[in-house]
Amino acid sequence: MSTYAPIDPAMPDRTRRSLLAAAAVAGPAAVMMGATGTATAAAPQTRPARGQVALVTGSSRGIGAATARRLARDGFDVTVNYLRNAGLAADVVRQIEGEGGRAIAVQADVADPAAVARLFDAGEQAFGGVDVVVSNAGIMRLAPLRDLADDDFDRMLAVNVKGSFNVLREAARRVRDGGRIVALSSSITQLRSPTYAAYAASKAAQELFANILAKELAGRMISVNAVAPGLVDTTLFTDGKTPEQIAGFAQRTPHGRLARPEDIADVVSALCGADGGWINGQTVFANGGIV
Ligand SMILES: NC(=O)c1ccc[n+]([C@@H]2O[C@H](COP(=O)([O-])OP(=O)(O)OC[C@H]3O[C@@H](n4cnc5c(N)ncnc54)[C@H](OP(=O)(O)O)[C@@H]3O)[C@@H](O)[C@H]2O)c1
Repeated sequence: MSTYAPIDPAMPDRTRRSLLAAAAVAGPAAVMMGATGTATAAAPQTRPARGQVALVTGSSRGIGAATARRLARDGFDVTVNYLRNAGLAADVVRQIEGEGGRAIAVQADVADPAAVARLFDAGEQAFGGVDVVVSNAGIMRLAPLRDLADDDFDRMLAVNVKGSFNVLREAARRVRDGGRIVALSSSITQLRSPTYAAYAASKAAQELFANILAKELAGRMISVNAVAPGLVDTTLFTDGKTPEQIAGFAQRTPHGRLARPEDIADVVSALCGADGGWINGQTVFANGGIV
């Protein structure tokens, strides 16, 4: 039985070129190393073999937690990250382990580049590398532009823009060839509702990061995309809103409900799976058709 092995940038040029050529034909997850160490282009897999590793920032709750659980079910070992809620992150790890997966929880503020480097170190030490990075941690502070406080603006930019930059920079340096990188944007970049100006700007950055990083990683078979959810049933969206307001928002989607975090995790999973590799440099609007 062959096991998945990432393309090693240090391998001889000829071997590396033949592996990349195989990947170009068969898709990134289809490059396999046989027991003898020879390269073979396998049929596309629907699920990655054990041995692939994912890191999801902000995965103690909400979309990140659903994504961590989903990627674990897909076969990834997962580094779960949190800022303050150690107990919730430990619950996510326990849920993954309860289903037979492997995960660790690591505290790190994505706004701190040194903490992000330590987060990646911890994942690599536990699981031997990283193949998928989901830059998900984010916060939202809403107010009409003229009223938004400096502290709220600064923290939102520090977490959403600088934080995601810290994560994507580390991902660009460490994700193994054939891997995937996803950054969480928001459909608010298109909806552009009042009170969302600074948050929407911080999310638009994710779409630009993903598109440009996809080009910068050319030749390594790493696909980089942004996923832009609409209204998702997490505290980030529901806090401060009345049940009536939430019901009103739900009616704005043709499906008549808010997204569940799992709806977004399914989309991230599809991008990170064997059949998602040809979507590259895009923003995927996963919003149930909200208008
Ligand atoms: N919910 C929506 O409607 C919606 C729509 C579009 C886009 N999004 C985007 O989707 C992403 C996830 O949103 P969500 O609704 O799942 O949010 P959420 O439920 O509020 O969860 C936020 C997660 O991020 C973590 N976090 C916050 N600040 C952090 C920091 N500085 N460093 C590390 N982790 C941090 C939190 O950790 P702790 O638990 O430790 O605090 C938590 O795990 C965000 O980028 C958001 O902008 C959400």
